[in-house]
This record gives sequence, structure tokens and C-alpha cells, in this order.
Amino acid sequence: MRWSILSALLSIVAVSVRGQSSTVDAFLAAESPIAKANLLANIGPSGSKSQGAKAGIVIASPSKSNPDYLYTWTRDSALVFQTIIEQYTLGLDTSLRSQIDNFVTSQKIIQQVSNPSGTVSSGGLGEPKFNIDETAFTGSWGRPQRDGPALRANALITWANFLLTQSNSSYVTGTLWPIIKLDLDYVSSNWNQTGYILFKNNLVFSVNHSRKPRFDLWEEVNSSSFFTTAVQHRALRQGAALATAIGQTGVASGYTTQAANTLCFLQSYWNSAGYTTANTGGGRSGKDANTILTSIHTFDAAAGCDSITFQPCSDRALANLLVYVNAFRIYTINNGIAANQGLATGRYPEDSYFGGNPWYLTTLAVAEQLYDALIVWKQQGSLTVTAVSQPFFTNLSPGVTIGTYSSSTSTFTTLVTAVKDYADSFVAVVAKYTPSNGALSEQYTRSNGSPTSASDLTWSYAALLTAFGARNGVVPISWGASGLTVPATCQRNNGAGGTVAVSFNVQATTVWGENIYVTGSVNELANWSTDNALLLSADSYPTWKITVNLPPSTSIQYKYIRKFNGAVTWESDPNRQFTTPSSGSYNLNDSWK
Ligand SMILES: *[C@@H]1O[C@H](CO)[C@@H](O)[C@H](O)[C@H]1NC(C)=O
Ligand SMILES: *[C@@H]1O[C@H](CO)[C@@H](O)[C@H](O)[C@H]1NC(C)=O
Ligand SMILES: *[C@@H]1O[C@H](CO)[C@@H](O)[C@H](O)[C@H]1NC(C)=O
Ligand SMILES: *[C@@H]1O[C@H](CO)[C@@H](O)[C@H](O)[C@H]1NC(C)=O
Ligand SMILES: *[C@@H]1O[C@H](CO)[C@@H](O)[C@H](O)[C@H]1NC(C)=O
Ligand SMILES: *[C@@H]1O[C@H](CO)[C@@H](O)[C@H](O)[C@H]1NC(C)=O
Repeated sequence: MRWSILSALLSIVAVSVRGQSSTVDAFLAAESPIAKANLLANIGPSGSKSQGAKAGIVIASPSKSNPDYLYTWTRDSALVFQTIIEQYTLGLDTSLRSQIDNFVTSQKIIQQVSNPSGTVSSGGLGEPKFNIDETAFTGSWGRPQRDGPALRANALITWANFLLTQSNSSYVTGTLWPIIKLDLDYVSSNWNQTGYILFKNNLVFSVNHSRKPRFDLWEEVNSSSFFTTAVQHRALRQGAALATAIGQTGVASGYTTQAANTLCFLQSYWNSAGYTTANTGGGRSGKDANTILTSIHTFDAAAGCDSITFQPCSDRALANLLVYVNAFRIYTINNGIAANQGLATGRYPEDSYFGGNPWYLTTLAVAEQLYDALIVWKQQGSLTVTAVSQPFFTNLSPGVTIGTYSSSTSTFTTLVTAVKDYADSFVAVVAKYTPSNGALSEQYTRSNGSPTSASDLTWSYAALLTAFGARNGVVPISWGASGLTVPATCQRNNGAGGTVAVSFNVQATTVWGENIYVTGSVNELANWSTDNALLLSADSYPTWKITVNLPPSTSIQYKYIRKFNGAVTWESDPNRQFTTPSSGSYNLNDSWK
């Protein structure tokens, strides 16, 4: 069936709420298995459209030219695997475990690949994309992009938390934690360097002006990004909780400090005009799908309608949604659509990439935010209209006044029904412009809605699956957003002035299953605790390594310990001792004694 034809017929007969809902039911029932299959086709080593990709490598799209997307982006891959991990851990698809194992293996390799952004220890984790054979991409690009490590940490922490509930802590501690910790340390020390932002395309400051016909449509946006800050906050927050759960409490306290700082910084994006300024670069309004994606990718139903973490049902996120959506009335295909009905939406109204078009994933994200909001209102049995969110609600239900409406009131029913219909109407737009084979490219044109830019965009398929899940009431696992408060004083620096990054490197041969830890005289080194001692990474075996942020100009004693089958072996006396410098970093090169 051609969805566009079905949809056109329905619009001729003046779509009723029920008609639209059943259109969307039918579309999603048919499209979600297609989306799942096409998503998996883009993952190596055996995906049918990803030949040449190593195991666990997600290609952005099979498109090799105009545009060439046959690369693996850290951001796209992490978002795709966040979806896969949630499908598996929520029991929606238990066939995905080997894909997840492959992803873990691939990311462990990719992290260590030296690239134009640096090595693993000098900024290389911020590299946005790699070749699909896991080698570095060395062409010019907008780099670094600092959301990637945070999103990868978020996906892997979701996986780790699930495995802890399955009593698989040895895999979490031995395999996942060293990967996660590298990303968290990167986020912790770089969140404040707010560089390139969310989207791969507008980030490319093409140095190659001879490619103007294609590349001058791309913009460089070199500024802070709401999405990046928000996903960094989530990573640090749930990273601290995971570190605590596996006994790495010294590291946890550093992440918690930086999580508080990022949460503070996050508040600065809200503006007095009643929306979130996604980024400030490139002479833009800042109205950007970046903010909608933030809301759905940091959704935590346990946090209710909290506005400081921009939860989907928060007044700020709803007010922002309406401002963002209405910015796309400039598209021809949106002409004549009523104010309370969904539009085709894109990245940002000033976009000119491929002519500046709506994207499938951004239109679906609007629907998903609204479905997420419905989940929470139903769960808490009430809905609140504030002065901030009133414009959003009056657009759907004229005359609605500020107040809290319990689920027993007719206002609650009216508003919830209107929001559900509004959400469905965005999916109906996607249905209308999805070709008959169900393939989702990156964009559909602003003039007539035909698919354009990269074909089979993996992220488009992930977006369809998560929107579908939210519509069915699937609640992602909580990441710890509930009960947070913004610190009274916001420390905007990255803590580098307050701490010194100390690398502990110790040569130690071990037997299989035996691990090396460090413990010492300060809080950050676990106060001589053996239980909470910090696990070193064996990635450079026989050198075991860890980098820890320690207080400056401080005399510190420490020792390495071994743990094997629950038994602890200390190094021989005396304690090792050194004094941290007043700033910068410091390397300790030791051998087990
Ligand atoms: C833990 O999870 C890993 C990764 O999927 C798996 O290889 C391993 O067999 C699991 N171990 C146990 C004890 O379940
Ligand atoms: C720039 O683009 C042109 C046209 O595509 C290409 O021939 C040339 O090799 C490119 N130069 C660099 C340095 O990438
Ligand atoms: C991005 O902005 C920062 C801060 O203003 C500046 O240091 C950096 O050079 C800029 N990068 C580019 C590529 O323009
Ligand atoms: C980052 O930290 C420096 C101080 O280290 C501060 O001057 C700057 O304003 C911070 N940037 C942001 C975006 O918070
Ligand atoms: C270390 O000791 C200090 C002071 O006694 C305490 O506040 C802190 O929680 C301890 N840290 C750890 C990791 O046990
Ligand atoms: C450890 O080795 C590095 C070079 O590998 C050196 O720069 C550093 O000074 C050494 N640290 C100490 C404390 O000797």
C-alpha cells in the first residue's frame, strides 16, 4: 500500500481524530518491521547493505555519493545502539545480544585509533567519524564533536546496568567499565570546551572551496550546543552512579561534581522569548531539532515533568516544541496545515543543506516527545499548565487556563486527547512522505516531500522505532534525572584549575582473571580502602593504567594492589609517595614491587 495515497484519501475526507489514529496505527504496524530490518542491514559484519563494515560498526547510510555517508559516526552509532540495547533489555527483541557484543568490541577498538583529533589520551575520543574498517578518517571535517563520547557512554551504561541486574558484574567491571571510563573522563574534562555541535552536516567547515556546488551549502557552527551539554550531563550523572555501584567511589565523586556543573550550564540555554537556544553559532535563531532530540534522549519518566532536565512534559520543553515546529511553516509542503496539526520539520529553519528540507528523524522526534509526555501524565495522574506552557496548550485547546488538572477532570481528558492527536499528526506526515517500500532516507523535500539526500539513513530507522515504542507506552530505563537541583553556584570551568590529572602507569604481569588496582591516602584514591580501590585498565598490558583527577600541590601516598578470586595482595612497603604539581597533569611510571 502506498501510504501517501492512503493519507491523501484520508485528508480528502477531512481526517477525523480516529481516522488519523488508525492511519498511524496501520503505518507503524507495517513500517516498524521494515525499519528494524533496514537498521540491521546497516550494521557489520553481516548487514546486507554494509559490506566491508567490521563487526558492530554502524554505517550512517549506504549512500556512497551525493552525499557520501559510508562512514561510521560515533554519535549515530551510539544512538542506534541505545535503541538496540533498550529493545534487548526491555525484552522487546531478545535476538540482539550478539549485535550488542559486537558493538562493544568495535567501540573498544575505535577508541584506541589515533586520528586527526588526537590519540585516546589526547582528545581522539572527540573524533566524529571513522572509516567502516575501523581506520581513521583523515580528510578535513568539523572536529572535534563532543557529544559522541557522552552518547556512547550512555548506551554502554544502559547495557552495564542491565548486566548488573543479571549478576554479570565481572563483564561490567572487566570489559565495559574501561571503555565507559575513557568516555566519561573525556566528557568530565571537556564538557566546558563546547565545540562543534549536533549535526554532522552543518559542522563541516569545508576547507575545500573547489567543491562549492555541494559544500558551500554546509555551515560551520562553532558554539555551545544544548544537546551536547544535556547528553554530557546524563553521561556524568549515570556514570557516577555506575562507578559507585561497582565500587569506584573516588571516580564517582569527580563525575558528580562535573554533572552538577553541566546541569548548571544547561540552564543557560533557555531564553526569555520562551524557547531553548540550541546553539548560538552561524547567525541563527537557535530554533533547532537539537532541543527536541535532547528531550527524547534524556527522557526519564521518574523525573516527572522536571524542567531543569528539560523532560518531555516539562513546561519549557513543550513551549519550545511549539516554537520549533512553527519555524517550519516556511516549507511549501506545510502550506495550509492547521495550527493544531503536525508539520514536516527539519533541523533548523536557516538550514540550506540539500536545499534545507524536513528530516524524517526530526519530525518523528516531535511525535516521540509528545508520546513521552503522555506516558508521564498518565503515570502521575495529572497534568499542569503553567504560564510557560500555556501557549502550547491553548494552541491545541483554546481557552485552557493555568492550573493542575487531575486525570478525573474533563480538561485532563481533553488535553491528553488533543496532545495524542497532535503527536499522531506528525507521524502521519512521515507516513505521507514515506515511499511504498518503506525506505527512510535522511530528508524529504520541502517542495513536494519526495525522499532526498542519503538513502536508508540508519538514524531515521532508529527514530521510527523509538517513536513507535513511545506511542506504545514503552518507558526507557531511568538514568537518575529525578530529584536533581541546580547548584546554588555554578562552576563553569571544567575543574582543570582545581585538579591535576595524574596518570598511574604500573608494569605488572598478572594471571588471567587477576586485576590491578590503586588505593591511597586521599578521598580520590579511596582512603586506603581495598574494596573501593580504583581498577586500572589492562589495555596496554603489561602496563596497567588509570588517570585520576587529584587535588593540586598535595602530598599523596599510594600503593597498587592485586585482586584475584576475592583475595587482595598488597605491594611491599614502604608506601609510594609523590606531590602533585600546582596545575596541569602528571605521570607516574611504576613497576609492581
Ligand atoms: C556476561 O555478558 C557477556 C556479554 O554479553 C557474556 O559474554 C557473558 O557470557 C556473560 N556472563 C555471564 C556470567 O552471564
Ligand atoms: C576538493 O574537491 C575537488 C572537487 O571534488 C577535488 O578534486 C579535490 O581533490 C579536493 N581537494 C581536497 C584537498 O580534498
Ligand atoms: C571555535 O571557537 C573557539 C572559541 O571561540 C576558537 O578557539 C576556535 O579556534 C574556533 N574553531 C574554528 C575552527 O573556528
Ligand atoms: C569554561 O571554563 C572557563 C574557565 O576555565 C570559563 O572562563 C568559561 O566561561 C567556561 N565556558 C563555559 C561555556 O562555561
Ligand atoms: C574518605 O574519607 C573522607 C574523610 O574521612 C570521607 O569524607 C570520604 O567519603 C572518604 N572517601 C571514600 C571514597 O571512602
Ligand atoms: C613518566 O614517563 C614520562 C614519559 O613516558 C615522563 O614524561 C615523565 O616525566 C615520567 N614521570 C616521572 C614521575 O618520572
